[in-house]
Formats: sequence, structure tokens, C-alpha cells
Amino acid sequence: MNSRVIVFVALLCATGLCVLLRGSMPEFPQLQISRCSCDKCLTEEEPWLMQHLNKSVQPFLSADYSLPEDAFNWWKRLQLESRDYSTYRTTVERLFQMFPPSPDLIESSPDRCRTCAVVGNSGNLRQSHYGPLIDFHDVVIRMNTGRTKGYEADVGTKTTHHIMYPESAMDLDNSTHLVMFPFKIQDLEWLIKAFSTGFSGRSYVPIKSTIKGNKDLVIVANPGFMRYVHEFWLDKKGRYPSTGFMAVILALHICDEVHVFGYGADKDGNWSHYWETLKNKKLKTGVHPGSHEYYSILQLAEQNKISFYTGY
Ligand code: C5P
Repeated sequence: MNSRVIVFVALLCATGLCVLLRGSMPEFPQLQISRCSCDKCLTEEEPWLMQHLNKSVQPFLSADYSLPEDAFNWWKRLQLESRDYSTYRTTVERLFQMFPPSPDLIESSPDRCRTCAVVGNSGNLRQSHYGPLIDFHDVVIRMNTGRTKGYEADVGTKTTHHIMYPESAMDLDNSTHLVMFPFKIQDLEWLIKAFSTGFSGRSYVPIKSTIKGNKDLVIVANPGFMRYVHEFWLDKKGRYPSTGFMAVILALHICDEVHVFGYGADKDGNWSHYWETLKNKKLKTGVHPGSHEYYSILQLAEQNKISFYTGY
């Protein structure tokens, strides 16, 4: 027999044997390799989450990311930006000459459970005694003028990430990531100047000229991500999402387990803060769809995607 025929017959036998064995062997359950070591990983593909969570939208800017022009056009309307797309691009280029070219994030891994606490600024944190629980998380995200000094028992002491924009900026310690949520080109310019020569421009409220913090831990949110939160998560309600709501969705993208504290308006519908007694009782939630955001957070909790701590 020639060797080609021998190989052909051998292959035929092997295939036949495989078919026979498959028929007689018990079915093994499909092995699923978990993407994290938590009891339940957020990133695992569940229909409900997958409907809302678009993992292809990058939460943060990086030097090699180019914002689509239509996303820029959406973003420029938030705070009536008059400058154009090419000014945005050159400003972002300058930004990455000064700050890390890609965000410093903990990647998901089967032997890691990235637990995150997102801490909003609601007055319902008062007397909550959540401090130790908040500090127990790997990542603790705070925002705007949210402070810990004097409120440790209720809000904790740890901050790994502090979200801000120039009008809500706070000095940080050397180990905290500054997460800039920019709403206009000036916010990017502010970041560059606040870490170098000092910023002398104006805004709708007085802003800090300089900031204390670690330049190597600066991360900048992607305007395209803000648009996605507005369109996919809030159904385009309100002018644009609040910093706090974007923080919750951000956590769904970068954490395996999300715990949410400090959200909820007071009985008059105002976003009052845990560190102050509200004077302006007509503050409400401004341009943000406060009650829709709250409802969406409740829904996330109902679907067991987040744990929501209401303070009561
Ligand atoms: O007031 P500020 O914007 O600093 O609060 C940060 C975030 O916390 C808000 O964007 C909002 O999402 C949330 N917040 C809330 N209820 C409050 C105060 C703030 O849900 N009473």
C-alpha cells in the first residue's frame, strides 16, 4: 500500500473512533473560567448588564486615543465651548506631554477581586457609621469637595481615586489618583497649568490656581464615555449626567464588585452634603436628571449589579 493511502485509512479510523466515543461518553459541563476571584464578577456576561454596559467605550483618555468628532460636538455643548475640535486635539496632545500617556488601572484577572466603594456626597452619610466598611474596599472613589477629615466614622479615611473638575478641585495627597472629568477645553488647560505655572483664567465660580497632588497619578475621563453614560444609561434625560452618576458607571467598567454610598437627595429634593447644613433650599439637582439617576441606581441594586447603602 502506498503511504498516502495508509495515512488516509488511519485518519478515517481515528475519526470513526472519536464519533463512537462521543456517543458513549457522558457530557461534561462546560468549564467557565471566571474573570475574577470574587463570588460573582461584574464583568461576566449577563444579558441585562451586557445590554447597558458597552465595554468598547474607553472610560479614560490616553495619548493614542482619538475622540470621534461627533462625540466632541456633543461634549462642546455641555458648557457652551466655543473653541473647535482642532484646539481640543492640540490641548490633549499637550496634556499627555505632562501626564501619564495611559491610565494606570488594575486589570481584571482570575486571581484578583477588585472591590470598589463609590462615595457620593449625600447628607444621608451623616451618622451612617459606614467609615470602616468604605475603607475595607481596594478602590475608594470620592468626588468633588467630598472630605474625610472630621467625618471619618461615617465616610472613612481612604481615597484611592478623587474625581473632580476645576470648579470642584481639592488638594490631594501623594498616593491618590486625580481623576479629571473635563466639561470644556479650559478644564484640560487648567489641569496643565494647575500643576505648573498656575492657572489665571476665570470660570462660573472662582477656581484654584494650583493644586497639590501627584502628577504621575492623573487620569482624565473620556468625553465619549460621558456621552455614552448620558445616552445609554440615562436615555438622554437631563442636560448631562452628574459627576456622581458617571462615577457609578465608571466603577461598573473598572471594578469586579461595586458598593455605592452617599447617594440620595434630601426630603426637599436637594443634593445636600454630609458636611454642611444646606442654606439654599432651592438648589435641587441643577442640570442633572437627579431623580432619574437615583432610580437607575436603585435598579442596578435591584438587579444585584451593585450594593447600595442608603444610610438609613
Ligand atoms: O454635590 P456634589 O456634586 O459634589 O456631589 C457628588 C455627587 O454625589 C453628585 O454628583 C450626585 O451624584 C451625588 N449626590 C447625591 N445626593 C446628594 C448629594 C450628592 O446623590 N444629596
